[in-house]
Amino acid sequence: MSQQTLSPIALGHYPTPLHELPRLARALGGPRLYVKRDDLTGLALGGNKTRKLGYLLAEALQQGANTIITMGAPQSNHARQTAAAAARCGLRATLVLTQRAPERINGNLLLDDLLGAHIRWAGDRDPLALLQEVADEERAAGRVPYVIPYGGSNALGASAYAEALAEMLRQSHEQDLRIDHIVFASSSGGTQAGLVAGARALNERAHILGISVDKPADVLNTLVLDLAQQTIAHMGLHMPVRPGDVHVNDAYIGQGYGVLGDPEREAIRLAARTEGLLLDPVYTGRAMAGLMDLIRQRAFGANENVLFWHTGGSPALFAYAEQLR
Ligand SMILES: Cc1ncc(COP(=O)(O)O)c(C=O)c1O
Repeated sequence: MSQQTLSPIALGHYPTPLHELPRLARALGGPRLYVKRDDLTGLALGGNKTRKLGYLLAEALQQGANTIITMGAPQSNHARQTAAAAARCGLRATLVLTQRAPERINGNLLLDDLLGAHIRWAGDRDPLALLQEVADEERAAGRVPYVIPYGGSNALGASAYAEALAEMLRQSHEQDLRIDHIVFASSSGGTQAGLVAGARALNERAHILGISVDKPADVLNTLVLDLAQQTIAHMGLHMPVRPGDVHVNDAYIGQGYGVLGDPEREAIRLAARTEGLLLDPVYTGRAMAGLMDLIRQRAFGANENVLFWHTGGSPALFAYAEQLR
């Protein structure tokens, strides 16, 4: 599909499983449901960043970098997987995290520590400014930094999801299955941009719907459209991504990023109890809550096949233990 020359580092186990969720579908009285298990990519408890980091770390090594710097929220899955990817490649990792150091560490933050990452808390400071400052400090210390943007969402990172779409299509073909809708959590837009770029490149017609975790639809739409266009260009292809290729639903943001509400609680419990499937409080719980609501609103045809793309995040469950009970 792509003419890009950089080969990703094998950080994950692919293809991730694609299987049906018959008991959840029955509980919802809806269309057939499937799941693409990118929570099982295998790098330090997995998630969507593993695919992106395979390309990003390959570029870092190609550039001779020996220290990786990125940023995120305190319970960032991206930061945790970046720490793991750096460890796998023998590189130093510094994570710039928003807010202040909490009294107790758990969830992703505990894993960041176990993985040996250096953590810098932004507190009241602009995390982007601190990111640049850390890069300067690393250079001054004689190291060669490679800075990964928020969510690993640039054209190189997103191109991993164009490849992932091709992987999913191969699997659905083998299972004699036609996926009509792909639904997932969207935030920094890289996953969605990659899926859209892959669909464009492969002339795939499935409807790709990002459930916004934190941004108004117009903002995320523009971000994904731009990034999908850059991703197509990065892949060496010349075709326009059209506004009609990008679909975002921002009806499930609730009280905002990381604020657990009843819809997420219900989605997490229902998926766990019907399918033994663990979602997370911030991203996949919210996206599944949106999907469940859309099913109840009869947004999908009875004969359509709907795929939930699980993007990981379950380590954050433990950081929300009190709120989940
Ligand atoms: C578990 C999980 N799902 C979904 C997303 C959103 O992916 P993207 O940032 O590519 O939109 C993230 C981003 O951090 C995530 O950690």
